[in-house]
Amino acid sequence: MELKKTHPKEEDRKKMSEKENRPLFHEELTPENITYRSRLVFCVISIIPLVTMTYLSYKYVFPFLDSRGDDTLKISAISIIILSVFLSVFGYLFSQRDGNRTIKAMGRTNRQLATLFKVANSLSSTVHIDIILKEILESGTKLIEGESGTIFLRENGNLICREVAGSAKNRNKGKELPVNGSPYENVILKKDILIFNKTSDSGEINSFPAGKFSDKNDWFDDSVNSLICLPLIYNDEAIGILEVFNKKGKKGFDETDKKLLENLAVQASISIKNAEFYDNQNNFSIHMLELLVSAMEDNVAWEGHLHNVARYCNFISRKLNLPESERKNLHFAALLHDIGMLKIEPISRTVPEEFQKHPAIGSEMIKPITIWKKIHPIILHHHENFDGSGYPEKLKGEEIPIGARIIHVVEAYDTLTNEETYSGVLSRDEAMKELERCAGTKYDPKIINVFLAVLKEQEAQ
Ligand SMILES: [Fe+2]
Repeated sequence: MELKKTHPKEEDRKKMSEKENRPLFHEELTPENITYRSRLVFCVISIIPLVTMTYLSYKYVFPFLDSRGDDTLKISAISIIILSVFLSVFGYLFSQRDGNRTIKAMGRTNRQLATLFKVANSLSSTVHIDIILKEILESGTKLIEGESGTIFLRENGNLICREVAGSAKNRNKGKELPVNGSPYENVILKKDILIFNKTSDSGEINSFPAGKFSDKNDWFDDSVNSLICLPLIYNDEAIGILEVFNKKGKKGFDETDKKLLENLAVQASISIKNAEFYDNQNNFSIHMLELLVSAMEDNVAWEGHLHNVARYCNFISRKLNLPESERKNLHFAALLHDIGMLKIEPISRTVPEEFQKHPAIGSEMIKPITIWKKIHPIILHHHENFDGSGYPEKLKGEEIPIGARIIHVVEAYDTLTNEETYSGVLSRDEAMKELERCAGTKYDPKIINVFLAVLKEQEAQ
């Protein structure tokens, strides 16, 4: 049975969209709207009943009391009316004051939440540690309205200052402190969160608590009026500290600031560890590749061949304005294009049928490596000729991946000009003429033109 797709009509879609976008309240909850509403409510529940009561008293109650000559009751009634007016007005003024405070606090909380969401989003979109640390510190100081701050990370038992925002005396990027005996010893070892405000709520001037922060006068000098410092924790271990100084305005840091910074620190610690993990992976991949390339140059090529091919490929891909991802793939493919030769016995490499297996073997070797999944077609086809006379699949012209066409040209040039190869050594000019002669048959003429231009530019330099 065929399932039929149904699409809502345009009109229905509009209605659905309007429904989804309809605000929760008919009017937006701005401070102006809230003030207007509270005035309206004040009129309805206080002013209108009071005016009505005053009018009715004036019209009926006071004439009745006058007719009875009862002044005491009349004075009492007038007093009650005046008292009610005062109470209503005071009630209104107090509720306005509290309402304004609430609105202000809500606005502040909204801004802080927006900053937290923004920073969480931003941290998850990058793996570069320097960018992450900068983002954490800038967001942290902005979030709790500090003037400056620092991030120290724990490396080899010491604390290294990795990021500074604003001006922070004695705290320069790269500054190294031993954990033990440093001002942050308790923050790291006991995971204490420390808040310090030089001027307390009572106006008293505090000195830094020596029991918590180590007493370092040069560290907490007169330029530091308030400070909050907390550990960055990952897997129950303090991997560093985040500190923010000098709350803007007269107030110092409080519990709300502490909670906000704690939320940021959780996200920050995860992002820092992810970035370190990515760095380690990257470092491992680069060094493993270097080991592989030098093993290949020892066994199946000659010293410098693979790096030469990669370098020339880079020049050509830049001239052709290939996208960065394609340039990267070409670079790795150029370094690994003959990896299949490692699986062919040295004695068989002079037999054409055996030698010609190396692109397919190399491609199969690379296939399981997911980060290089786009380079195995380049390796597979790097011996295809432009006119379809190459191997292994006799592809023609633009059927051959562009990376493979580039490597084919560059590899030939490096082989022709190297004295260790069986082809014999040609001068640069002779090799260029040979490439030109084969343009359109073995090689892509467009790439030959670009490569010859590159070689001429290099010669002129
Ligand atoms: Fe090859």
